[in-house]
Amino acid sequence: MPEAKVLCVAGARPNFMKIAPVMAALRAVGGIAVRLVHTGQHYDVAMNRRFFEQLEIPLPDVDLEVGSHSHAVQTAEIMRRFEPVLDREDPAAVLVVGDVNSTIACALVAAKKDVPVAHVEAGLRSYDRSMPEEINRVLTDQLSTWHFITERGARDNLLREGIDGRGIHFVGNVMIDTLLRHRPRAVPAARTLDGWPAPWAEQGYGVVTLHRPSNVDDPEVLGDLVETLRRIQARLPLVFPVHPRTRRRLEAAGLDGVLAGAGVLLLEPLGYLEMLGLMEGARVVLTDSGGMQEETTALGVPCLTLRESTERPVTVEQGTNTVVGTEPARILEAVEEVLAGGGKAGRIPELWDGRAAERIAAVLAADLAA
Ligand code: UD1
Repeated sequence: MPEAKVLCVAGARPNFMKIAPVMAALRAVGGIAVRLVHTGQHYDVAMNRRFFEQLEIPLPDVDLEVGSHSHAVQTAEIMRRFEPVLDREDPAAVLVVGDVNSTIACALVAAKKDVPVAHVEAGLRSYDRSMPEEINRVLTDQLSTWHFITERGARDNLLREGIDGRGIHFVGNVMIDTLLRHRPRAVPAARTLDGWPAPWAEQGYGVVTLHRPSNVDDPEVLGDLVETLRRIQARLPLVFPVHPRTRRRLEAAGLDGVLAGAGVLLLEPLGYLEMLGLMEGARVVLTDSGGMQEETTALGVPCLTLRESTERPVTVEQGTNTVVGTEPARILEAVEEVLAGGGKAGRIPELWDGRAAERIAAVLAADLAA
């Protein structure tokens, strides 16, 4: 029997740790030819190639080299460049992950050409349409045939939007597949922090990441957050790997100098294994990232989410995550609580067991052979 071809799509940093285990599992299940299209949404070595190397992802078969633009231009350009690839490859299915512009762009091209779409990490909803990712999630799910979900509540979200329940599969979390596989190789925090004069060895340290437009694009909001971090570092040394978007905003607002004191270590974006080691050793993680809410839950490290909502409620209900918003007093209070009591103890959510990608591959192999 000829192999069914699955065209996998990745484009931005959080896609890489999701696509890696899925591609490996699709290859292992047999009978499926696996191809990778990289849209080029992220292109810096630190945002892109280092992840391919550390996660041992095969080089993309096709690179669309799209780069950074406004949402409309980026999405349109991915669509324009993806269409001829789809025509040429003629796959049995297109597989997309997460909620970035590359996800919706390729799903839309495929659905219009009657190529069925598999969405990994379907059904997550923040119910906040001011987040570009929320729009990407809702629309990608409308276009998809297979909906692979990471937490049970996602099924209800999808059913409410009229999605056919027969295509919804609760498989667990591929991001956690990657975390569990690579945890033994995580780079110890001591190596990343070597030479930093702050008293982190005695006091411990917190990890900070910020990149959501709602937090970094408005200089006033960003200024308040920076001031909050400046106050926290007096109690707890902070390590802050800075996303390129955030780096530009900090510089433009003249805020980069405010944090350049002994208590905050500003770093370039880290590799996957460095970040994993850093999170593992942290007393607390302060972040607006979606993936890190899940990773901290898997690691049992307290997470304070600097947003008003989360699309990943299982990390709050069962994991170590607390959604604290962006109001300085509330953030400071939450940090004090963690320092005093060790933070929220959580448990590992159902099916976050390292085998999500295998379950996805089993479903796709069976359906594509039928
Ligand atoms: C994108 C995703 C977001 C995800 C984040 C993870 C969308 C809508 N957003 O946001 O969901 O959480 O990736 O990082 O898809 N830049 C570089 N080098 C790069 C890539 C980007 O310098 O390799 C800078 C550019 O100034 C660019 C800006 O970052 O304009 C934003 O990049 P973009 O891909 O549009 O969105 P992110 O903020 O990275």
